[in-house]
Amino acid sequence: MDVSLNKEPKLSKIEHLFVVLAENEKSFPIRSLQKIYKDSGFEGRDGETLTLLADEPRKVTLVGAGKKDKLTMRGIRAALYAIAKIAKKNRDRSIAVSVPYEVPDLDADESTRVIADFLSQADYKYDAYITKKDEDRDVRITATLIPLDDLNAKRVKQLEAESKALYDGIRTVRDLGNAPANVATPEYIADRAVQVAKNTGVKCTVYEKKEIERMKMGGLLAVNSGSAKEPRFIVMEYAPRKAKKHVALVGKGITFDSGGISIKPADRMEEMKFDMCGAAAVIGTIEAAAKLELPVRITGAIPSTENLPGGSAYKPGDIITMMNGKTVEIVNTDAEGRMILGDALHYASQLEPDHLIDYATLTGACVVALANEAAGLFSTDDELARKLIECGERVGERLWRMPVWDEYKELIRSEWADMKNSGGRWGGAITAAMFLKEFVDCPSWAHLDIAGTAYTEHETAREARGATGAGVRVTVAFLESLSQR
Ligand code: BES
Ligand code: MN
Ligand code: ZN
Repeated sequence: MDVSLNKEPKLSKIEHLFVVLAENEKSFPIRSLQKIYKDSGFEGRDGETLTLLADEPRKVTLVGAGKKDKLTMRGIRAALYAIAKIAKKNRDRSIAVSVPYEVPDLDADESTRVIADFLSQADYKYDAYITKKDEDRDVRITATLIPLDDLNAKRVKQLEAESKALYDGIRTVRDLGNAPANVATPEYIADRAVQVAKNTGVKCTVYEKKEIERMKMGGLLAVNSGSAKEPRFIVMEYAPRKAKKHVALVGKGITFDSGGISIKPADRMEEMKFDMCGAAAVIGTIEAAAKLELPVRITGAIPSTENLPGGSAYKPGDIITMMNGKTVEIVNTDAEGRMILGDALHYASQLEPDHLIDYATLTGACVVALANEAAGLFSTDDELARKLIECGERVGERLWRMPVWDEYKELIRSEWADMKNSGGRWGGAITAAMFLKEFVDCPSWAHLDIAGTAYTEHETAREARGATGAGVRVTVAFLESLSQR
């Protein structure tokens, strides 16, 4: 939904006011409604909601957030998601929202940003292919967020613009991720990247199969060989004049992962349309960064293909020569992400960026380890890892660091080639990262395994089913931290 910030919105122009309150809150942020609130008997329990009728605005809904000392960002996020649901049911067109305290561990400024961000995403639903008209669904909600008192008017305006930029980037990721694989092909992803680039003044180069062959991207070509659709290698370049640092972002763009010859079980294979969420995260992050005019140079590199079985598909036992000249013995064609990322990481390393970060729905093993709570973080640079974790914590995107110790390299040792493409079950997320490391030539590298965070299998208390936009918030926060020095 559209979110604007206004300290004193005209209550007469608002249909429905929502106030998120903790337990035993004494004061009410809107003085004219203090008495109705007092008389309502509302307690503020977590999940409690109460709609009251008033004059201006007509409807006031109190949303409980639980005990104040137990308040969390996810709790506030759930309250905002609940607000969007209630507003939709009520077919409200114009709402106002007040969260009259800071998000735990954040100051007024950051709290307002995070709340504006989550609120703007709260009514998101992917319905591009629902043909039946649904009145609730078609209502466009305009929200006014009442910011905390401590912010001055100028900052409020800036925050509004910042949250809009972030909204656009995350929305791009969710729409791309949710699009079905028969639509979101490598060509489609490339077209979308070009479109985003045009809208933001970013440069975008799309390499087609011939050029990918010329560049000798053996990993990308091997994975592509079973597909009837051609691969793409997409490079986006945002280069503002005042940039001091250069960050390269690489994203896994498998538009559908059947597993290839090492085919996956049918059960829930449809989820593998989300296997391009890393690529989408790179496009969305660059979109947001460009709209925010961050003074950091950013290069995005996206290898994209389907992974399908077929008469010309790559097979277990094949030995593939990658772009950097290293050879890989294929033991499992379902370990395809690392094959396409190996080439892209090599390509990006050659640009000699200050930091190189990749995003990939890379392993089921990472989901076994962390479920949907956190993305796996693997890094060769302690400082970068620390910063990413800290940025993630601030914006509600958790990262959990896992090791890339040399000892693990043993697990991907091959008899016949420089390495194997799978290390088996034990430490599956780590051996995947170890494989990627073989193609990185940059002292400051981080790999985010977003297999568990890029999409949700079911609707949760905090968001709709499907692509979440994972990667954008934490990366934008990191890029901002770079530009502050
Ligand atoms: N795209 C999958 C990983 C994945 C699994 C993402 C579940 C989201 C949810 C990846 O390409 C894959 O198949 N990985 C294999 C690697 C194995 C063959 C070494 C896996 O995790 O099982
Ligand atoms: Mn796979
Ligand atoms: Zn995959």
